[in-house]
Amino acid sequence: MIRTSQRKPFRATLTVPGDKSISHRSIMFGAIANGITEVEGFLPGADCLSTIRCFGQLGVEIERLSETSVRVHGRGFAGLAEPVYPLDVGNSGTTIRLMLGILSGVPIFSTLIGDESIARRPMKRVVEPLRKMGARIDGRQDGRFTPLSVRGGRLQGLTYESPIASAQVKSCLLLAGLNAEGYTIVREPYQSRNHTECMLPAFGVELETQGAEVKIKGGQELTGTRVRVPGDISSAAFVLAAALMVPGSQVTVEQVGLNPTRTGILDAFRMMGAEVQVEVTDHWCNEPVGNVTIACEELRGVEIKGELIPRLIDEIPILAVVATQARGRTVIKDAQELKVKETDRIATTAQELRKLGAIIEETEDGMIIEGGTQLTGGSCHSHGDHRIGMAMAIAGFAASGEVVVEGAEAIDVSFPGFARLISQL
Ligand code: S3P
Repeated sequence: MIRTSQRKPFRATLTVPGDKSISHRSIMFGAIANGITEVEGFLPGADCLSTIRCFGQLGVEIERLSETSVRVHGRGFAGLAEPVYPLDVGNSGTTIRLMLGILSGVPIFSTLIGDESIARRPMKRVVEPLRKMGARIDGRQDGRFTPLSVRGGRLQGLTYESPIASAQVKSCLLLAGLNAEGYTIVREPYQSRNHTECMLPAFGVELETQGAEVKIKGGQELTGTRVRVPGDISSAAFVLAAALMVPGSQVTVEQVGLNPTRTGILDAFRMMGAEVQVEVTDHWCNEPVGNVTIACEELRGVEIKGELIPRLIDEIPILAVVATQARGRTVIKDAQELKVKETDRIATTAQELRKLGAIIEETEDGMIIEGGTQLTGGSCHSHGDHRIGMAMAIAGFAASGEVVVEGAEAIDVSFPGFARLISQL
């Protein structure tokens, strides 16, 4: 359980735990590479630990040198062993979808399961194109949902027009494409996060990208490398938002990932009138890294839609919280994907924010939030969704009474140490 209440203006400089998307990929790519991959700044959150556990079951030796440093002893795709027990991905959509791509092209049998939330999340989006590549996958409701089983084998390259902008779909197919005959091309309606495209070349893989299209040639091998993981901009978003909830505050987050496919939340905060300064100081595995400083006196409502949505998809719950404090109305459109995240985030964001007096309308593809509301104290629930739990805790920073967040243990999925960190603000 987390309790938060109204804050006085504060100033803080801090770092946040490692990027979840990059941490997952560092383990997966390290596992299918030849040789050793050293990972620093790894996120020791529940989701990424699920990825480590699953690859351990596939016979990959993975050493935890410290909380945040990991050594992966990769032996190539061919080194993956048939697992004796089902692979349990826990709450992690990235683990299951990317692993399906890897497992489809390796001649072993495996079964994938996860928690209650994973059991509701759509898998057809990857199962269907993988089957077109020749993958043999079966599962509940003809492979729409877990449990899923994969009998890996030979794959054919595929040209796929994805109906959704999803990095999990894109990455799954690119990983399958690495083992397929010929070329695999994935086109998206808008470009989704491109960590796979940035990181694979660090492992020696060649690929071509052009706008929202990626092309990869089959039969390439990966070579182990060193991965430094930047702070997660999706985690930083909660502390940046905290500063916006308390006018007169200023927060700097250092060594955070600034990949442009992820920084939509900074653009949205700027559109709302926040002063956002960004300084890129480095590139790690082709990923820009640097510092973000935010401050604001007064926010205004905005319209968020189109190509911006995949660039801030995970930040919409906290964006909705901030929008309650803006002058005027905020409209979020084109965000149907929210319905199939860890929870239906249109429903859970609206339901929980209303408990604190927010005026928020759910729509088919997003929500409409009335600004200028005085939030009240109240008792909220994470619904087992880390980002809903954190968003509600930050809402307390501008509430007239105490906000209690139940189910706060879910926050460990992506942001271990969140409660301690915000208590220091
Ligand atoms: C992720 C992609 C996004 C995001 C998720 C992590 C990834 O999902 O919401 O938290 O690491 O590739 P989709 O690709 O399904 O939109």
